[in-house]
Amino acid sequence: MKKVLVLYYSQAGQLKKVIDSFTSNLPDDEIQVDFREIKPKRPYPFPWPFYEFFDEFPESVLMDGCEINEVENIENDYDLIILGYTVWYMSPSIPVTAFMQSKQAKQIFKDKPVITLIACRDMWVLAQEKMKKLIENVGGKLIDNVALTDQGKGAYSLVTLPRYLLTGKSNAFLFFPPAGILESEIKAASRFGDRLNKALKEDKEKTGEALLKNLGAVNIDGKLIATEKIANRSFQVWTRLIKLSGKKYSFGRKITITIYAAFLILLLLTVVPINVIIGKIMSKFRKDEINSLEDYYEQPSGR
Ligand SMILES: Cc1cc2nc3c(=O)[nH]c(=O)nc-3n(C[C@H](O)[C@H](O)[C@H](O)COP(=O)(O)O)c2cc1C
Repeated sequence: MKKVLVLYYSQAGQLKKVIDSFTSNLPDDEIQVDFREIKPKRPYPFPWPFYEFFDEFPESVLMDGCEINEVENIENDYDLIILGYTVWYMSPSIPVTAFMQSKQAKQIFKDKPVITLIACRDMWVLAQEKMKKLIENVGGKLIDNVALTDQGKGAYSLVTLPRYLLTGKSNAFLFFPPAGILESEIKAASRFGDRLNKALKEDKEKTGEALLKNLGAVNIDGKLIATEKIANRSFQVWTRLIKLSGKKYSFGRKITITIYAAFLILLLLTVVPINVIIGKIMSKFRKDEINSLEDYYEQPSGR
């Protein structure tokens, strides 16, 4: 009997839906699958009040974690771990970061093959770089990565995702598509569980090789990587400014957050569109560089 642990934190439920589909064809008489949820001691609100949403920004970026409950009924002898996480401010979400920094993670991840499963808007490559370090620190071996991203162009989800997170509304409106990942893509994630079921029966998880190649596990737009890197630089400055301005949920933070939110909106209306146009033009001259970035970030499960 092979044992698979599926560990995850999904605040509003989308990642959980992806996990359910991903694993729908995985368990059978020979494969046991244990689902365990990471739970923060103080649950996050949904929909998010405006200031609470931005208040999590510094702690996400600086990977400070939060208080979480110990995950119960977890064993140390899994053959494979699937770690489902969402991205918060281009970092793994705070509860998952907290878990990966815990003693418990050290006990269960040591020498285990790990598959990361991401469900987010569309900016996950820097979060995954952080996740690679977290997995390495607890002795796990990353063998695959699957990333599902929101429907519509990135510019649309810059509107539809915050609208959903701050109001709970996910319907299509004006010329915008619904918020979140396409239902058909979520359904199609069952192909990964199919492949894993066969691979586990052939002991392939022991080889250290990727098991989910050639299934379209990740789809990277090389031009977005530059945008992530630019945003990351500004994140480093603003996180420190917000943290310096007071404790979590304090009035001081609210003032800095208000300025930051105004800055972000201005950025979205000015620098981002200009950056997209420049990026499109420059990408014609930087094809080789962009291709090699895509190759790197698509590892280990690309194409
Ligand atoms: C505080 C916060 C910050 C987020 N930041 C990002 C981000 O930087 N990049 C991204 O692609 N998605 C981001 N998202 C979207 C999430 O990754 C995810 O798609 C969404 O929260 C729904 O997931 P869930 O229903 O499983 O909780 C953010 C969500 C939250 C709540």
